Amino acid sequence: MIVANRVQKVAPSLTLAIDAKAKQMKADGVDVIGFGAGEPDFNTPENIKEAGIKAIQNNQTRYTPSSGMPDLRKLIAEKLMKDNNLEYKPGQIIVSCGAKHSLYNIFMAMINPGDEVIVFSPFWVSYVEQIKLADGIPVLVELDEAKNFEIDFDLLNSKITSKTKLMIVNSPSNPTGAVLSESSLKKLAEISVNKNIKVISDEIYEKNLYNGRTHISIASFGKEIKANTIVVNGLSKSYAMTGWRIGYLAAEDKELVAAIDNLQSHSTSNPTTISQVAGIEALKTDPKVVQAMVDEFDKRRKYMLGRLRAIPGFTCVEPDGAFYMFPNFKKLIGKEVKGKKIDGSMTLCDLFLTEAKVAAVPGIAFGRDNSFRLSYATSMANIEKGINRIEDLLK
Ligand SMILES: Cc1ncc(COP(=O)(O)O)c(C=O)c1O
Repeated sequence: MIVANRVQKVAPSLTLAIDAKAKQMKADGVDVIGFGAGEPDFNTPENIKEAGIKAIQNNQTRYTPSSGMPDLRKLIAEKLMKDNNLEYKPGQIIVSCGAKHSLYNIFMAMINPGDEVIVFSPFWVSYVEQIKLADGIPVLVELDEAKNFEIDFDLLNSKITSKTKLMIVNSPSNPTGAVLSESSLKKLAEISVNKNIKVISDEIYEKNLYNGRTHISIASFGKEIKANTIVVNGLSKSYAMTGWRIGYLAAEDKELVAAIDNLQSHSTSNPTTISQVAGIEALKTDPKVVQAMVDEFDKRRKYMLGRLRAIPGFTCVEPDGAFYMFPNFKKLIGKEVKGKKIDGSMTLCDLFLTEAKVAAVPGIAFGRDNSFRLSYATSMANIEKGINRIEDLLK
């Protein structure tokens, strides 16, 4: 076997696989409605694109410090203060090639073989695979859909052992769109401080909030929890900049920041200089530009939720954040559609794609086989057409 053991443990990303199949069908001329995407369908705002173009014209095309341009880190520190009430120095921030890369760096820098990491389930696919890649053990803590995917603290406490090193908090969540309550975040913070378990707070969807919800960073509850938390965020989702690859982390622990800086300097070096310059512009963008996208997402969210709830066999928790729906189809399990027995999310999503020409992501990719994920980061017309097709298929 030419491939190292380390990589063999890693499962291929199901979300990317279904997206690739849908894209191939589209390329072959099939009219596929794609609900698979984990990225805004909006274009990057003009001022940000212009900044990128100018960066090239001005020859800002050379290496920068490995952990990011000082100006960008300064602006990120200002953003964390302004939006999240978190005081960090630019030197406590590391800019990477997307939040995914920041997370990878954290796991690589923190996990020793056998260390356990609490992952709430349903979970974003890459957490589990990255933890395994770092020789850690993901410990899943199931969230109850009937309780709006809030945390069951008895269950959480029962999963904590002497080997628990980290917990991942992802609010708003991918794939459920759930936003944790302030009281849950406070309880998590207490557990973290009392049991000395570090927290990764993945806040990438912080701007995608609805129903009057506001974002609270777990790190903002006090000195002790801030010292225990590594905040992860990025520009991908809020500024429609997924392809630019700018994410970042903020942490107080000097040793950890130095270790990650070192790791990054020997792997990717700095994130793309041009993207960093565009990132500087992004952070100076009028918040109204971001809010306009969020408002549009909200319209689609309401429409999609109404339509999904009207389909017999589906139940769907109202998501207050991100841009995903995570309907449950438990009631359809065992039923036959187009001669195929529905036995789980892979079969259902395959039926959606082949019979209804709709791309959705099987819930099994996120640890829940009786659900599937639909992204509403697509036009209202597509949402209408796609849901019509699902409805017709299941009639
Ligand atoms: C929960 C979550 N965290 C992190 C990321 C990574 O985003 P990026 O690497 O584009 O910054 C994603 C992207 O889908 C995500 O859904």
